[in-house]
Amino acid sequence: MDVRRLREDFPVLQKKINGKNIIYLDSACMSLKPRSVIDKMNEYYYDFPCCGGRSVHKLGTQVTISMDDARTKLQRFINAKQAEEIIFLRNATEGINLVANGLALKDGDRVLVSDREHNSNLVPWLRLSTLKGIKVEVVPSNPDNTFDLEMLESMMGNDVKLVSMVHTSNLDGYSLPDKEIIDMAHDHGALAMLDGAQSAPHKVIDVQRSDVDFFVISIHKMCGPSGMGVLYGKYHLLDELSPFIVGGSTVKNVTDSDIEFLPPPAKFEAGLQNYAGIIGAGAAAQYLMDIGLAEIEAHDNDLNRLITKQLSNNDQIELIGPKDADLRGCVFAFNIKGMDSHDIAMILDELENIMIRSGMQCVHSWFNRNKLKGSARASVYLYNTEEDAKIFSEKVLEIIENFK
Ligand code: ALA
Repeated sequence: MDVRRLREDFPVLQKKINGKNIIYLDSACMSLKPRSVIDKMNEYYYDFPCCGGRSVHKLGTQVTISMDDARTKLQRFINAKQAEEIIFLRNATEGINLVANGLALKDGDRVLVSDREHNSNLVPWLRLSTLKGIKVEVVPSNPDNTFDLEMLESMMGNDVKLVSMVHTSNLDGYSLPDKEIIDMAHDHGALAMLDGAQSAPHKVIDVQRSDVDFFVISIHKMCGPSGMGVLYGKYHLLDELSPFIVGGSTVKNVTDSDIEFLPPPAKFEAGLQNYAGIIGAGAAAQYLMDIGLAEIEAHDNDLNRLITKQLSNNDQIELIGPKDADLRGCVFAFNIKGMDSHDIAMILDELENIMIRSGMQCVHSWFNRNKLKGSARASVYLYNTEEDAKIFSEKVLEIIENFK
């Protein structure tokens, strides 16, 4: 992987702020966008800024063809069996909400989640516990912050209808043992859903191999446009799933009293769509496939190993998650003793345009349980260099030296 060359694809990396380039280490929140994605979206706005799936004129047809093409690219990206299993939505959060509201869950049904869920995979379930009486149960991790499969096994039972877990955590970069979790859910008659917002941008996803039932993707974390997400579901499950938001283009026919819905994906994609976003999502998937997800994962991990080596032995640094960098993908999350995480982030930004995220990372339950106010989180991606990792580490050590 030629990182120097890849960096040229990203217009924002060519810019300077206060005379300096940026060191962008916040890709777990939002990745940067390559020119090929931006150009594809502009092409829509310049050349065929029309409505897809409806109008039969030439420009409308071009939108429909482009949407189909993007869907096929996403199908290939996660190795889904058919393109109709790809639903375009606003974000991964909407995908989880769709499943939560579309499954026929009832009073007493149990849903199991991990103890490091993003609010997106906790709040919809907690809300259903109030609205429908479902039981949401948290599977505690091992003391070393790895996933406890034995604990999951001990919590399974016939009343567990769904195991819905984060695939790779935005808290610490740890990836749960997906195949084991999915197989265990199936052995007990439950469905399995993975929140792939942090895994899909960084590793090879194969939904047929893993046999996952539902999988959500956040397009803006994988070099694509903001306001775009994908829900994958096995076709027969999508066919049974009730739509959440309904309206135009979800129906085959309607009378004054009856509705006949279209099959997936149409019944879930109500109203006019973010056509530029869908086209951009396809371009982003293609961009990553051209580079190779296995190469990206190895690169991220190399940089994380470098940062971990330079920082994790410092007695002022409290690392979040497993000690081993190989278990934390692209994320190095930490606190400096006695310092607020927002202060760390602001000083890094001020000193060297180093951009990281701080605070509770939308994983409030974990921070509340661990009685922490937040963390500083650096996350690397395909456009980061060893130099970025080195400067980041040096500046963190400088903060410990000068600002504490
Ligand atoms: N979930 C995103 C993050 O971790 C917003 O930063």
